[in-house]
Amino acid sequence: MDDATGRRPAPAPEPASRAAPVDQPSLAWVDGAIVAVDQRALPGETRVLRLTSVDQLIAAIRSLAIRGAPAIGLAGALGVALSAYRHYTDGGWDQAAVRADAARLVAARPTAVNLAWAVRRAAGRVAAGPDAVLAEALAMVEEDAATGAAAVERACELVLARVGARPTRLLTHCNTGRLATAAVGTALGVILELGRRGLVREVLVGETRPLLQGARLTAWELGQAGIAYRVCVDSAAPAAMAQGLVDCVLVGADRIAANGDVANKIGTYGLATAAARHAIPFVVVAPESTWDRATADGSGIVIEERDPAEVTAYAGVVTAPPGAAAYNPAFDVTPAELITAIVSEDRVFVPGDARPPAASDPADRER
Ligand code: MRU
Repeated sequence: MDDATGRRPAPAPEPASRAAPVDQPSLAWVDGAIVAVDQRALPGETRVLRLTSVDQLIAAIRSLAIRGAPAIGLAGALGVALSAYRHYTDGGWDQAAVRADAARLVAARPTAVNLAWAVRRAAGRVAAGPDAVLAEALAMVEEDAATGAAAVERACELVLARVGARPTRLLTHCNTGRLATAAVGTALGVILELGRRGLVREVLVGETRPLLQGARLTAWELGQAGIAYRVCVDSAAPAAMAQGLVDCVLVGADRIAANGDVANKIGTYGLATAAARHAIPFVVVAPESTWDRATADGSGIVIEERDPAEVTAYAGVVTAPPGAAAYNPAFDVTPAELITAIVSEDRVFVPGDARPPAASDPADRER
């Protein structure tokens, strides 16, 4: 089974790939194709994929070659452009086919709301033609870097206000850096910025079972930035907090319900529970596009369940008895009450003092 719907995607032709320099952007539009770092191959190999069809893109998103809520949203928007150029000919313009591709892209992964948001925004330009769709998608890629930088700045201020302007010990989960976005990152972007200011003593990186986004990707990004880190098994995090090794936890989000409940990589809820037990600030960093105000609380968020084989084997090595069943939710929901603050490019949302935010609520935006 490949996703929550139980559907297996049609096999997509293997996209072209090549080795890439380490400063390769995670996602770009080059000569009519989506060029993306293949996140499955890191850290062993820095390889890029050249995706020229919606089927290839859907396969890349489902297999986590492209992953992270903002990145899959931007890739989805560029995918609408791929579809638009494919269905545009001198003789006519099959807008219905583009809209059908957009719906398939939205369904590729169900939890991160950024995917539906970005695909719908790009698809909203379909009537204006393929160039307009591409321009919208590329504008979103540009905006992602700007929103990331603004959220990072705001979150740095918050963390320093909470823990003091001294080299600090941070814990993070999954990967929320450059790879998971177009450029700056969210929670990991904050850590990298604090590192640039000389304010990180150590980062504990949860390995992030079962696909090791922390051990493989976050550790790789931290290493490139020269920031001290140690990878730990996910279950070591509460013990690290109990031993005083963590001043603040920083994570990203895949979908935030109207009341501030946060869906993020499986294991986040456990981290928040342990952080609350030890009175450690637990900060979520995510763009406004991750908020889903149509969903009242976390109980309404669809959690993707992935292939049990991701749990019973790793890298081709079987780690459980033959036929072992597995429970493999890709995400969990952290109740708002366990979260210290949710920081976006526009505001700091503090669940403890808040009424649920509205997009147009100026009071929330000032905070
Ligand atoms: O399954 P993944 O690797 O796509 O999950 C990613 C996460 O859970 C991230 O924390 C989230 O998307 C935020 S990325 C800035």
